[in-house]
Amino acid sequence: MSVQNAYIDAASLPQLNTHTRAFLDDPNSLLGTGRDRVTFARGIQGVEVFPYELVRALFRDRRVTPRNPAYFEKLGVPKDSQIMAYLVEGNINLTTPENHDRLRPILVKGFTPRRIDAAKPMIRDIANKLIDRMIAKGSADFVRDFSHHLSIGVIARFLGIDPEDVPLFENATVDQRLLGQIPLAPVIPQLDKSFGAVAEYSARLVAKRREKRANDFISDLIDAQEGGDKLTEAQLVWSIAGMLLAGHDTTRYQLGSAVRCLIESGEWDTIRARPDLIPSAVNESMRLYPAVPRQVKILAGDLELGGEKFREGDIVVLNLAAAGRDPAAFPDPSKFDLYRPEPWYDIGFGYGAHYCIGIALAKAEMGESLSVLTERLQNVRLAGEIDVKPVGVICGPDSMPISFEVRPSH
Ligand code: HEM
Repeated sequence: MSVQNAYIDAASLPQLNTHTRAFLDDPNSLLGTGRDRVTFARGIQGVEVFPYELVRALFRDRRVTPRNPAYFEKLGVPKDSQIMAYLVEGNINLTTPENHDRLRPILVKGFTPRRIDAAKPMIRDIANKLIDRMIAKGSADFVRDFSHHLSIGVIARFLGIDPEDVPLFENATVDQRLLGQIPLAPVIPQLDKSFGAVAEYSARLVAKRREKRANDFISDLIDAQEGGDKLTEAQLVWSIAGMLLAGHDTTRYQLGSAVRCLIESGEWDTIRARPDLIPSAVNESMRLYPAVPRQVKILAGDLELGGEKFREGDIVVLNLAAAGRDPAAFPDPSKFDLYRPEPWYDIGFGYGAHYCIGIALAKAEMGESLSVLTERLQNVRLAGEIDVKPVGVICGPDSMPISFEVRPSH
């Protein structure tokens, strides 16, 4: 395709609302699968981009930047709100580029391979206790009874938080997904309250650790601050809140979708027999039902893409849900295929400068959970409607009733 001289005219593109359950369940039913599969569309936030190679290229491009505090101000977030404090001080993804580049290396230090390995027995222990409760109940809602508690329980313990404190913030941390909702205005009061509650808890925790250090993420951050790493008090407190918020919803949804895929494909027992296929199961679930199905980005410079010219300031939406089902990259794209040859789908955790810093922890959580679940349960089936809120930049099953039997050896 030859590059035009004019910038892309969003108004001339087909209009498509991708914030629907029908789109997320089967993007190709709307985009097509042939050579004329839709490349760009006018979505509710900007120009949506669907092909895998283009989405991947955009993730790698330094001119493609995350939303920022000014973007949220335009959506109605007050300057003096808890939401704005979180965006500026504690969300390294959405803060200013200067804050991002200074805070990211400090936070990354907390996710050492040794710490992730050390967390695995703790993850299995939480998983086993949740399964015990499901068995005692006789049935379960997989998200409400398992993945909700597993993901917040693990990130909390990983940071150094007493498990007994989790009920103090577990309903607030799950609200992070609301930040991507359009329109945002109706949920601003709820978000403000939730972010404020998480920050208040984090501030109390910092004060406690200042008195008595432990071998944990929070103590490391305090040491970094006192060692001159230029972390302000607000950044210290909000960074801890930010880790709780970033680590809850995402894994909660992705683990739910991984279990959904294993049930729907009939591959539950394969994983029991071949745990070496767990990474492939996680990857396939991210390709088919990504917990981050779209990323809204702002262009910090003009760029050319797929034969079109985009202008600095344009909003582009990297549609991961569509990219994962691109037939040009993945033959038989809607099949959950444990034996899919490499190269694998590799953008579910982002790519480039804002690559997910919790990736190793998230993979450990999902991997250990699938291992324990398939070891202990069999004949796992869906036992009701899967409830998905298809809006925002983070989504997945909020409710997923299942039935199961206990494996005889257990
Ligand atoms: C399956 C679970 C997860 C998924 C699907 C996921 C997905 C993502 C994606 C797509 C991005 C890139 C955003 C962008 O390009 O702008 C990202 C960034 C990020 N993730 Fe995750 N994530 C998961 C779990 C976690 C966990 C457990 C944490 C831990 C605390 C975490 C912390 C972060 C942070 C702090 C960033 C921002 C990085 C930056 O902007 O430099 N994530 N994640």
